Amino acid sequence: MGTSEVQTKIPFNRPYVTGAEFTYVQQAIEAMHLSGDGAFTKRAHQILQSMTQSPASLLTTSCTHALEMMALLLDLKPGDEVIVPTFTFVSTANAFVLRGARPIFSDIRSDTLNLDDSRLDSLVTPSTRAIVAVHYAGVGCEMDAILSFARSRGLTVVEDNAHGLLGTYRGKALGSFGALAAQSFHETKNFSCGEGGALIINDEQYVRRAEILREKGTNRSQFFRGEIDKYTWVDVGSSYLPSEVLAAFLVAQLEASDQIQSKRRQLWERYAAGLGDWCSSVGATMPCVPSHCEQPYHMFFVRMPSLEARTALTAALRTRNIYAAFHYVPLHTSEMGRRFGGARGPFCRHDRR
Ligand SMILES: Cc1ncc(COP(=O)(O)O)c(C=O)c1O
Repeated sequence: MGTSEVQTKIPFNRPYVTGAEFTYVQQAIEAMHLSGDGAFTKRAHQILQSMTQSPASLLTTSCTHALEMMALLLDLKPGDEVIVPTFTFVSTANAFVLRGARPIFSDIRSDTLNLDDSRLDSLVTPSTRAIVAVHYAGVGCEMDAILSFARSRGLTVVEDNAHGLLGTYRGKALGSFGALAAQSFHETKNFSCGEGGALIINDEQYVRRAEILREKGTNRSQFFRGEIDKYTWVDVGSSYLPSEVLAAFLVAQLEASDQIQSKRRQLWERYAAGLGDWCSSVGATMPCVPSHCEQPYHMFFVRMPSLEARTALTAALRTRNIYAAFHYVPLHTSEMGRRFGGARGPFCRHDRR
C-alpha cells in the first residue's frame, strides 16, 4: 500500500452533505424541541407533499416503518395475501408478514426489473388484498396497467418508493399513485438523514389513523393541534416518528434537491456514456429507463450475463479498491421467503439461481 492511488477507495456509497445540515441541526437543538413533529418535521412534510403532489405525508424513522404503517392501515389479517415483486428489499414483504399476511412473490419484467404487470392475473386469489409496486432504481412500474388491474379486482395499490422520490411515470410523481407510498431517507438514498423515511398518504381516509398509529396508538397529534383537550390511547400503534434532529438534517437535504439531483445525474450519465460499449462486449445489460419514465438517478447498475461473471467483476473491481455491490437476493429463494411466502408461476431465468 505504497501509493496514494492504491489507497484511494471508491466506496459503494458516500453520503452527500450540503453543509446546511450543521446549521439546521444546531437550530433544532437551540429550539429545545428535540422530539418529533416540531418545525423541521412540518417543513419536511411540506416539501415532500410538494415533491409528490400528495395531500399528506408523515416522516417516519425508516421506510421499513412506513411500510409497517401501511400494513396496519390496510388492516391486514392472517390469511390475507399481498402481491410483492420477488426482486426487492426484505422490508417490502416483512411489513406485511408482521401482520400475518402472506406475501405472494411476483416475477419481474426483464427490462426495468419492476413487478411484471402481465402476471398479476395469475397471482390473484379471493384472499388477495393489495399489490405493492416497487419502483426499482426509481424507474416507475407500469402504473396504468397495475392500477387498472387493481381497480377491476377491488385491490388496493401501495408503492414502495424507497428509491423513487422525484421520479415520474407519464409525468406524474412516483409516490402519488398508490393509496399510500413509503419513502426512504437511509444513508444510501438521494436524500438522507442517516436512517429515516416517510409515509405519503394519497387516500385521505387514512390520514387520521396514520397519525394515531405513528404516535403509539394515541391521539396526541390532535391534542397538539388543540382539537381535543386531552390525549389518550385510542388504537394500536407504535413509535414511528423521528426526532427533530433528524428532521432538521433531512430538510437541509430536501431543500438542496436541485443541487443533489444535478450531481447524481452527472455521475449516472458518466457511467452510462462510459460503460455502454463495454456492456455490449461482455453481454452485460445497462439500466432501462422507458421514455415515459423520468428517473431520479438513484442507482447505476449493470446486469451481468451470469453469476460467475458478476462475482469476477466485483472481485476485480475490489482489487482496484472499487467497492461494487450486488443487489437483492430474490425473496422467494430466501430462507424466510420459502417459509412464509408463496411463489406462483414462472420466474425469470436470472431469478432462479
Ligand atoms: C425497495 C426498498 N424498500 C425498502 C427499503 C428499506 O428502507 P429503510 O432502510 O429506510 O427502512 C429499502 C432499502 O434500501 C429498499 O431498497
